[in-house]
Amino acid sequence: MARPKATRILVLHGPNLNLLGTREPAIYGRTSLPELDRQIRRHADSRGAVAECRQSNHEGQLVDWIQEAAREGFHAVVINPGALTHYSLALRDAVSAVSIPVVEVHLSNVHGREEFRRHSVIAAAARGQISGFGPASYRLGIDAVLESAPRGRLPRRPR
Ligand code: DQA
Repeated sequence: MARPKATRILVLHGPNLNLLGTREPAIYGRTSLPELDRQIRRHADSRGAVAECRQSNHEGQLVDWIQEAAREGFHAVVINPGALTHYSLALRDAVSAVSIPVVEVHLSNVHGREEFRRHSVIAAAARGQISGFGPASYRLGIDAVLESAPRGRLPRRPR
């Protein structure tokens, strides 16, 4: 019997996440972005999936990647939108526009920080949000995606 195709997950990091490791380490930890990406890819691999990680400081680039994800063969997106979480309606509309599942993740617990971080304009359009577990938030995001996009099947968005 043919082996089922691996689920392909696009992992997106938003603005300033390229500075991980040196940016406010008391909040975001000391793991650099390349190391975090290695952990994410290793975790996906251990679950029989494939993760590709990209980072951009530019809203439009993130919108383009979300729009093109399914066409590029990805079955789901895990995104840490950084500060765009709190105000980017363009990113929210992109998440709403695609039929593949999108899971929002955050390193820090945004609900326990400044008032402006407690609201996500993305969360309602995403499948769900994982916040506050450091690098493990991404691994949990991968696991959440695999619950909703098993074995490369393209799931329908629940109504
Ligand atoms: C963040 C939380 C955001 O409020 C912040 O702007 C970030 C990182 C997190 O991962 O905890 O850039 O998304």
